[in-house]
Amino acid sequence: MQNSFYSNVELIGLLGFPIKQSFSPFIHNIAAELTGTKLIYLPFEVHSSNLKNAVKGITALGIKGFNVTVPHKVAVADFMSKLSEEASITGSVNTVVNELGKLIGYNTDVYGINESLLPYKSQISSNDVCVIGAGGAARSVIYTLIRNFKPKTIYLINRTAEHSESLRQHFKSKMRYDSIITNELQQPDLLNVMNNCSLVVNCTSVGMFPDVDDSVVTNHQLFVKDQIVFDIVYNPVKTKFLQLAESSGATTINGLKMFVLQAAKSFNHWTGVEFPIDKVYKSLLLYVGK
Ligand code: ATR
Repeated sequence: MQNSFYSNVELIGLLGFPIKQSFSPFIHNIAAELTGTKLIYLPFEVHSSNLKNAVKGITALGIKGFNVTVPHKVAVADFMSKLSEEASITGSVNTVVNELGKLIGYNTDVYGINESLLPYKSQISSNDVCVIGAGGAARSVIYTLIRNFKPKTIYLINRTAEHSESLRQHFKSKMRYDSIITNELQQPDLLNVMNNCSLVVNCTSVGMFPDVDDSVVTNHQLFVKDQIVFDIVYNPVKTKFLQLAESSGATTINGLKMFVLQAAKSFNHWTGVEFPIDKVYKSLLLYVGK
């Protein structure tokens, strides 16, 4: 590399905790190389107690932008100067652009989720669906479902009842949507609830590398044939959750497509350059050994 590379290069960060499992540095640096974009993408492991300082530091250093991942997607929204429509309604930010010291928060997860579910639209619309988890990822999935898929009822299943109740209230006030029914993960009739849903989405980080033997639910009978089961976790590609669903004959969707497409939108926000989706996807498949 020439010296001129370093004088013109833009730095993009990733803020999260933990961060080591993320493939974002891999795909953004490949995209930069493939498109000849002067960009370096680096992960920063930031604890929740340091998030505000980390964001201030990014502004002070004039860093072009950053991605936000677990568990900061909701908390980071408070530090933005402006939010896109998706980020504002979901209250979840995964992409930030530093425009001359003003931080603009976007939610590109919504795009990745929408594209992953689109092939199954007819099975989802007007049917019951089930969302597990009540964090930032769940907000993006629920927003996408309400906006573009119009399910009959969204069963929101979560470990902590207050979190799912607050999400139900959030969508009632932000989108005037009143068909979310909250359920606890441990409730005895969970099987009946899940078996009736045409779509089940895992929006928790349970099962993510290195805890690959974990699953937010452990009974394969919760899944049924003809059901669509989507896991937003992409590392590993086939999570324990998807293995259980597959063993019951369900159609499974892994998180890899969503991951690449949210990245493509983010890259474009930072650089204005088109992300080489197919080439990056192929490199990623080789990288994860598929
Ligand atoms: P993200 O912003 O990516 O969604 P998050 O805000 O940390 O991440 O949310 C994670 C979700 O996964 C939460 O709904 C959490 O449940 P609680 O509301 O009870 O905290 C859920 N979650 C995390 N670990 C879990 C576990 N071991 N079992 C069940 N649910 C879990």
